[in-house]
Amino acid sequence: MASLTVRQLDDTLKRLLRLRAARHGRSMEDEVRVILREAAEESDRAAADRSAPVATPRPATPRDGGPRILLIIGGGIAAYKSLDLIRRLQEHGARLRCILTTAALHFVTPLAVGAITGERAFTDLFDPQSEFDVGHIRLARDTDLIVVAPATADILAKMAGGHADDLATAVLLATARPILIAPAMNPRMWAAKATARNLAQLTADGIRVVGPNSGEMAERGEAGLGRMAEPHEIVAAAESILRRGAALAGKRIIVTSGPTHEPIDPVRYIANRSSGKQGHAIATAAAAAGAEVVLVSGPVNLPDPPGIVIVKVGTAQQMFDAVEAGLPADAAIFAAAVADWRSESASLSKIKKQPGRTPTLTLRENPDILSSVAHRASGRPRLVIGFAAETDDVIGNAQAKRIKKGCDWIVANDVSTDSGVMGGDMNTVHLVTASGVESWPAQAKDQVAHTLIERVAAALHGTKP
Ligand code: CTP
Repeated sequence: MASLTVRQLDDTLKRLLRLRAARHGRSMEDEVRVILREAAEESDRAAADRSAPVATPRPATPRDGGPRILLIIGGGIAAYKSLDLIRRLQEHGARLRCILTTAALHFVTPLAVGAITGERAFTDLFDPQSEFDVGHIRLARDTDLIVVAPATADILAKMAGGHADDLATAVLLATARPILIAPAMNPRMWAAKATARNLAQLTADGIRVVGPNSGEMAERGEAGLGRMAEPHEIVAAAESILRRGAALAGKRIIVTSGPTHEPIDPVRYIANRSSGKQGHAIATAAAAAGAEVVLVSGPVNLPDPPGIVIVKVGTAQQMFDAVEAGLPADAAIFAAAVADWRSESASLSKIKKQPGRTPTLTLRENPDILSSVAHRASGRPRLVIGFAAETDDVIGNAQAKRIKKGCDWIVANDVSTDSGVMGGDMNTVHLVTASGVESWPAQAKDQVAHTLIERVAAALHGTKP
């Protein structure tokens, strides 16, 4: 974008601007912002009058404590609706920042977007000024929700593939905040197999989608599924995500995840096949719902979920100690596959092979962390949830385990070798509670985590068992 600075204005304009700014007690830059905002609002009002909406628009009033939304405007014809979307989000108290992709610059100008949001619009990953001012990592972090509208077929493909070759995709890759996309494209592009594949990947990654709608396209003679959702529909979807994002605000949740490693000697250990994917997804979903999360994790090959206190442990005993130290909590979710036994006497030096002698391993039972927390006489979390990894009679064993361990719920799953659960991305679980068994469909572990966390939030708020 060609940028305009006060210095580049002609002298007469500069003098008038200086006088006006002085009269209002503002800097000259702030005065320019006010003038542009008023002009944009005026043209918006005139456009609104022409299209004669029935409802009287509320004034756009971003609130100081209102949610922060980062709007990424993609390069589609539907980008013309983005100014309306910004105003509507502001009317709901949201504070907006905007990124325009290079293609979006063909449809909407940073000047108009900046004037309405009251903040400069960001466009370039390699713009020294915005990297110095804010930086793409802060754009990714200092927000409660990212909305991509219009989300073109190209943006969907880049997101699904984890690209980061411009500011928008770099921010989308770097963020831990919820993302809402409003796809908009030609119906044939929407129906393309590649788009369907990308969308399936994005929903599996926990990205929410609003629209597209069916109807006439901007291109003459084209109609079908692919119109961007209307701004009021996008606002409603954003509000619902933000409401959900506060579902566990003020609650503290402990989650265990991954396997434990029980040393035999300094180089050998007893372990199991748990990847930690389900436990980490639960911790991530709980944090996204606003909870303060303590994740006690055994050794895993997963990145640390952002915004979460992570206590890394090796053995079951260390996991037990970390969980005890993490209490009190409103809920505790035990997704770790804790080794049931440890070597009674781990050798301090490497056990050497000796001809004709096979060493005997004497095992000792590890503390049962779930059972111990669930049976606490005082300081028991209100909701204690265990997992049951079973290979036979999954539900029967899980029901018995719930009673034996004294927990409120058991999330039971079949981990037999052909189920692909251990280490995989999908899970098929049954939620076993005092009031019965619910079998959930096969779904991504991220989705299992979101559904479970929704249920936890409802239970802690007393709206559902
Ligand atoms: N668990 C735990 N501490 C242990 C063993 C298990 O906290 N020492 C928790 C797990 O995190 C899980 C639940 O107990 O939430 C059930 O784990 P599982 O291994 O299925 O049960 P076990 O008690 O080990 O029963 P078994 O292996 O005999 O099926």
